[in-house]
Amino acid sequence: MIGGALEVAVKLLKDGQVIGIPTETVYGLAANALNEKSVVSIFEIKNRPFFDPLILHFSDIASIQKYVLDFNSNALKLAEAFWPGPLTLLLNKNELVPDIVTAGSHLVAVRIPDHPLTLSLLRHLDFPLAAPSANPFGTISPTEAKHVTDYFNEKIPMVLDGGICKNGIESTIIDCTNNEPTILRSGFITKNHLAKKLNLTAKIIGENQLQFSGNFKSHYSPKAKVVIGESAKAGEGLIASSVVETPDGAIRLAAPKSIEEYARTLYSALREGDKEGLGVIHILPPQGEG
Ligand code: TXA
Ligand code: MG
Repeated sequence: MIGGALEVAVKLLKDGQVIGIPTETVYGLAANALNEKSVVSIFEIKNRPFFDPLILHFSDIASIQKYVLDFNSNALKLAEAFWPGPLTLLLNKNELVPDIVTAGSHLVAVRIPDHPLTLSLLRHLDFPLAAPSANPFGTISPTEAKHVTDYFNEKIPMVLDGGICKNGIESTIIDCTNNEPTILRSGFITKNHLAKKLNLTAKIIGENQLQFSGNFKSHYSPKAKVVIGESAKAGEGLIASSVVETPDGAIRLAAPKSIEEYARTLYSALREGDKEGLGVIHILPPQGEG
């Protein structure tokens, strides 16, 4: 038996509608991946170009296997190590996955998100959820339900509120179709994690080799100009680890104490800077690994 918000979400999704859902990385704008009309709506609501493909979300590996040609040994190794979690795998798709989801590619992106509400939601559906991040194309990704309603209030019937996203940045995307896995988008899981935890060497795709995967010239962008690597002056915003002091007159937007906290608070801090109408936000990247 389910009830409340979850039951409403199940109903809306079965009815072909687009809703906001929580994940451990960022909130997603989700719909039935097998319903082409619903998938088109996702692109329209987000104002996303149709050449930028979507990730499919599942609750378990067995369900994924229905939609891919081969779940090879590298994919299995990665899946067992990191799912549910902030990892997306690219695999060869079969004919059940509509071309609109993959922008015509024979590869499909799949993941099992680590959020109890969304896992429960997925278990009540007999189709995967296509879900990009729930932000207008090119803007800051949402890490709270309220961010999603701020963006899309009138355009979607519901946001399933699952609290603040515990990771706060997008999943790592790995192409698993060749012998050596290739990291297409960096995220919480790094090349070093793969080496240490799985004894698996991966290569990182070169800049400009892809038109998507966070490689657009402008992405995750606030209205303020962002400067990386130098500290702020009076009147400018600053995002930096807690060990860094705030220069006189600068506006401190975040002072995270760890790399994890840095990731979790980054997008909210950028959003805060826009709310305050700042012209420039300075970011000093965290030290250490990850
Ligand atoms: O953490 C995440 O992955 C979040 C949550 C909601 O799951 N989703 C997310 O989706 O970041 P989105 O749409 O903002 O980014 C998906 C990216 C695309 O821009 C593209 O780079 C890559 O995933 N992608 C998806 N399908 C692909 C495909 N068939 N081939 C190559 N890249 C693909
Ligand atoms: Mg996105």
